[in-house]
Amino acid sequence: ERPVYILAVETSCDETSVSIVRDGQEILANVVSSQIETHQRFGGVVPEVASRKHVESITWILAEALEKAGLRPDQLSAVAVTQGPGLVGSLLVGMVAAKAFACAMELPLIGVHHIAGHIYANQLVHQLKYPLMALVVSGGHTELVFVESEGRFRIIGQTRDDAAGEAYDKVARALKLPYPGGPHIDRLAHEATEAVTLPRAWLEPDSYDFSFSGLKSAVLAVLNQAGMKGIALEPSAVARGFQDSVIDVLVEKSLRAVEAFGAKQLLLAGGVAANKGLRARLEARCAEAGVPLLAPPLSLCTDNAAMIAAAAFLKYRRGQFAPFDMKAEPLLKL
Ligand code: KG4
Ligand code: ZN
Repeated sequence: ERPVYILAVETSCDETSVSIVRDGQEILANVVSSQIETHQRFGGVVPEVASRKHVESITWILAEALEKAGLRPDQLSAVAVTQGPGLVGSLLVGMVAAKAFACAMELPLIGVHHIAGHIYANQLVHQLKYPLMALVVSGGHTELVFVESEGRFRIIGQTRDDAAGEAYDKVARALKLPYPGGPHIDRLAHEATEAVTLPRAWLEPDSYDFSFSGLKSAVLAVLNQAGMKGIALEPSAVARGFQDSVIDVLVEKSLRAVEAFGAKQLLLAGGVAANKGLRARLEARCAEAGVPLLAPPLSLCTDNAAMIAAAAFLKYRRGQFAPFDMKAEPLLKL
């Protein structure tokens, strides 16, 4: 059988990425160009700047991916692209590049949902067993997704305000840590010898939803009060208290969902899945409960095109191709 080579493009936020994956499993190239340094001085992603940066990089990143994979364009089977959700200007750059390339090379086009990509990043390294439960935690999303069978997603809980990664980034900013703050808080929390006590938003007893804005406000209040009283608060104690609170809620709700839905596996996905504290606690709780836990390696947790290629491969097998008038959808539903 001829191998299936999918070239995928991901530009939904602030990384420009092109990847080539063979048969949905073997990564031949995964070029990721981060704009973090550009956005750092603004303390967050500036959409207009992000689109311009994508325009500057996409062409040479595409060429570099092909070169790394050692493939000619005519050896490819399909071109995949993140259709949404994301920043509209950023998505458009990837969409136009993918269409132009697919059109010139006469290749079929596949549209991928960004969150499906995060979930199927696990497929690059693990054997998935359905039904499964996915905890998707990133800068823009916090969702518990029940995946009944391949490609059939049902969101059973989501954040009512900030995403987990967003809360990390906002608390990091209050602690004067660089953007993106997640990894810095993770490190500080790990080093901490004490923890500030902060609330946990459990919401209604049967709810799988999340809320992180109250926690973020509680952190700001603690920092303000300490400032007014002239008390020096250890940033690590704040980071630890915040991280403990986030992890408690994520872990307990995920395990409850696994049990209630009879999921065979718990999948971790999205940028916050790189969090060492979260991974360690989930590993311990899942081992206790006898639930297999799958998580991608750290490099495949944050945005990358290999995960888009992995999700696209499943659509390729089912013949789910996109028309050439496919639109970038900033609010695309899973
Ligand atoms: O999935 P991702 O790369 O982009 C989105 O689709 O949003 O996630 C980025 C988010 C940022 O908010 C970043 O602070 C967070 O993931 N993040 C982390 C860690 N590494 C990245 N949050 C907590 N702990 C980490 N180690
Ligand atoms: Zn993402």
